[in-house]
Amino acid sequence: MVEKIQQVAQEIEAAQLTNAAELEQFRIAYIGRKGRIADLFDGLKQVAPEERRQVGQELNTLKNKAQEKFDQAQEQITNAAADERTTTAFDYSLPTVPNTLGTRHPLSIVRNEVIRIFGRIGFNVAEGPEIEDDWHNFSALNFPENHPAREMQDTFFLSQNKDKLLRTHTSTVQVRLMETQKPPLRSIMPGRVYRNEAISARAHMVFHQFEGLYIDKNVSFADLKQTLYYFAKEMFGQDTKIRFRPSFFPFTEPSAEIDITCMICKGEGCNICKGSGWVEIGGSGMVDPNVLASSGIDPEVYSGFAFGMGIERITMLKYQIKDLRLFTENDVRFLRQFENVM
Ligand code: DAH
Repeated sequence: MVEKIQQVAQEIEAAQLTNAAELEQFRIAYIGRKGRIADLFDGLKQVAPEERRQVGQELNTLKNKAQEKFDQAQEQITNAAADERTTTAFDYSLPTVPNTLGTRHPLSIVRNEVIRIFGRIGFNVAEGPEIEDDWHNFSALNFPENHPAREMQDTFFLSQNKDKLLRTHTSTVQVRLMETQKPPLRSIMPGRVYRNEAISARAHMVFHQFEGLYIDKNVSFADLKQTLYYFAKEMFGQDTKIRFRPSFFPFTEPSAEIDITCMICKGEGCNICKGSGWVEIGGSGMVDPNVLASSGIDPEVYSGFAFGMGIERITMLKYQIKDLRLFTENDVRFLRQFENVM
């Protein structure tokens, strides 16, 4: 027995453990449950009882040595493998894992573009709440009580007395601006608006507008026209034409609707512009003296112009999008087309 132990001890000492395969062979041959050391432990029963203690101790020492050798070799082998990976196996010329960035929504692209265009001629940006009261959405804008003009906009009311509502246009922000700031005022007010309309290719109950307001001394209709000429050319291209059609809004006098040359047919006439060569992009006018007065601005001293346009409308014309519902459907095939547009 003692000889056997010595023999195994020599074998263990001599074993070469340089790779994972040798390591595994060694484990099975010596340390494993069916290995040589386990066999020797089985043989312990045949050893004379007075020697058993001594032999048992030697066997334990042998077992520990084998385990120690195994552990050391294993550590060396795994370290070497890790070194290999970091020094030679890593290919630094590999392309990086592609980073899938989202894309900006076309409505955000156009809103930012509007802000930039007007920013260049001195307009800053203002915002107001989407939940409004009757005053800011109607009364301060010169909509008389029970006037049919209130019915022009299908309002979502939030209270029985109709004083809390979802704003139907961004003109509300004009009022908030005039109430809190002194002229000269020159702002662009983009935002979301709500109307009780059936959803279709051309209409939605939630959409976006931007309002423009310019109040100072001696502001004229010529200033309004020039500002919107500039905007249309910057937004749609230098050969875009613009025209003003007389119209009515309670908060402006005189009022005009704004048309630009149809982007689809370049003014030739097509089914989008119903053969006229023109498409409407918004409303505008000189701020009604009543509106100035009810917000605390003296109409004898100051005058100004305002305009309001639909962001969906402009985006559809600019990118020739035929269905408004595409903006809210989150179809990546649609959204990805704006990947390289800033
Ligand atoms: N608020 C109007 C609408 O939602 C748009 C508008 C027309 C805004 C004329 C204006 C304006 O500031 O002067 O239909």
